[in-house]
Amino acid sequence: MSDLERARAIVERARRPVVFTGAGVSAESGIPTFRDALTGLWEQYDPEQLATEAGFRADPELVWRWYASRRERVAQAQPNPAHLAIAALGRRRAGLLVVTQNVDGLHQRAGSTDVVELHGSILRVRCLEGCAGPVEGWASDPRVPPRCPRCGAPLRPDVVWFGELLPEHSLQRAQQAAIDCDLMVVVGTSALVYPAAELPFTAVRAGADVICVNPEPTAIDEIATVALHGKAGELLARVLGG
Ligand code: OAD
Repeated sequence: MSDLERARAIVERARRPVVFTGAGVSAESGIPTFRDALTGLWEQYDPEQLATEAGFRADPELVWRWYASRRERVAQAQPNPAHLAIAALGRRRAGLLVVTQNVDGLHQRAGSTDVVELHGSILRVRCLEGCAGPVEGWASDPRVPPRCPRCGAPLRPDVVWFGELLPEHSLQRAQQAAIDCDLMVVVGTSALVYPAAELPFTAVRAGADVICVNPEPTAIDEIATVALHGKAGELLARVLGG
């Protein structure tokens, strides 16, 4: 039996599958990953300058323009066959949870209805000084960050920056899903950023199968029941069936 057939059989018999994704699942939609050689965002830009609160306070316009260009790219992108295969599995398997590190909203645009965004979303903003809750109807001038309607402070992207804690409720849901699942399908992550990268290990410790899909080997290969080396857009529909 080929690895693909073994993975297919594991998906078929799974009762409580969870899908965990990273930037690689959106690569074929034209959204750059973070660490792929040359094309990765962190290869081209300084994460200290662009993905920290200190960087934003030092130069809010620079950071805002960068996120505005990423938002523009996401707006022009389309969900790819990997996003669509995950959404289709969700229609066949009631209660399927998608846990993502991505901030692009492409899982939801593909039709996935229960998505935990561990690192937030670049489609939302919130007050830099912590006024409660996301802000709706903000002016999307790509040059300058809009102002908080409550306190007048700059609004920042509602994403997790380096050195920041993940949204507590989202992390708890993801950790509980990793404990309760009998299969975790891990797609397109380098598994280098914690605490998100711990989830597949939590799932295996709880007795679940892990299938990983990535053109490159990662630390997940060591714990995977099946590791498939290829592109998510080309493989996922065949792995998840439907
Ligand atoms: P990375 O850029 O670290 O890893 C992307 C992974 O996707 C790599 O292992 C690639 O080999 C793989 N990949 C590339 N193309 C693929 C394809 N077509 N199909 C499947 N896999 C493919 O991105 P993440 O692991 O998501 O954090 O990074 C984790 C976090 O680091 C991000 O959420 C972000 C970043 O700093 C925050 O913003 C907090």
